[in-house]
Amino acid sequence: MAWTTENRRTEVLDRRPEPYLTDEIKRLLSETYFPRYPTKRAVLLPALHAVQHAHNWIPPQAMEEIAAFLDLQPAEVMDTASFYEEYWLKPKGKYLVQVCRSLTCEVCGSAELTERVKAKLGIQPGETTDDGRFTLVELECLGACGTAPVALINEALHENLTPAKLDALIDHLPADPHDYNDPTIDWEQGGSAHAAAHE
Ligand code: FES
Repeated sequence: MAWTTENRRTEVLDRRPEPYLTDEIKRLLSETYFPRYPTKRAVLLPALHAVQHAHNWIPPQAMEEIAAFLDLQPAEVMDTASFYEEYWLKPKGKYLVQVCRSLTCEVCGSAELTERVKAKLGIQPGETTDDGRFTLVELECLGACGTAPVALINEALHENLTPAKLDALIDHLPADPHDYNDPTIDWEQGGSAHAAAHE
């Protein structure tokens, strides 16, 4: 198999004056993670996580900043970040729709879920809508085979899905993804309060 190579020697990186690795993230890494490990380089994964959590992806400028902070070469940071699928090296949508495509979900209709999302949002797996609201991916078993087919939307698992249910769920997602993290709201029920909230 031939390797696909990219010419990065002449690539011009987008830069912004303010750092991605903010003082707040540096403080978190210094106070929480440095004491746990014998070397600074061992904090690379938490650093990548922190940047992605703050900015929704890991820009090249951020990788340079992480390298300088941890006394690494930028290429080492890039090597690590590009090894793991969980790290996003290009911007992703506010909502990441991840449909499980492993065996049990496949048998239970995951392909129909993906097809519905593709048609609804006009994107293929791996792509982001033009408005930056949604990114669609397929991923492997989420360990919820008993309630297949399932999908993750950001960090929330949705089970026993049908194309219509997933379609409606996408329609009901709030404008601000932070509101979606509210555990008292059931977005599968169109944004009504969870029954548990009244118990
Ligand atoms: Fe989908 Fe296991 S196959 S959760």
